[in-house]
Amino acid sequence: MEKVNSQNNDYVVIKAIEDGVSVIGLTRGSDTRFHHSEKLDKGEVMIAQFTEHTSAIKIRGNAKIFTRFGEVSSEWKK
Ligand code: TRP
Repeated sequence: MEKVNSQNNDYVVIKAIEDGVSVIGLTRGSDTRFHHSEKLDKGEVMIAQFTEHTSAIKIRGNAKIFTRFGEVSSEWKK
C-alpha cells in the first residue's frame, strides 16, 4: 500500500453536488502531472489523503470540499 505523506495524515472529503465532478490527483516530485482522475456523480463522496505519490488534488465541477482548514466550494467558471 502507498505510504501517506509523513507530514500530513489528514483526509480530504469531497462531496459532488452535481454529476460529473472530477477529482484529479497530481504527482509529487519534480514532475507535476495528473496520475489519476475519478468521476463523481451527484451525492457521491470521495475521501482521500495526500500520499508519497499525490502532492496535490484538483477538483473540477461543483463540489463541497472539507479539510481541517474548513469547507470550501469548487465551481465551474461563470
Ligand atoms: N494511488 C494514489 C496514491 O496513493 C491514490 C490517491 C491517493 C489519490 N490520494 C488521491 C488519487 C487523491 C486521486 C486523488 O497517491
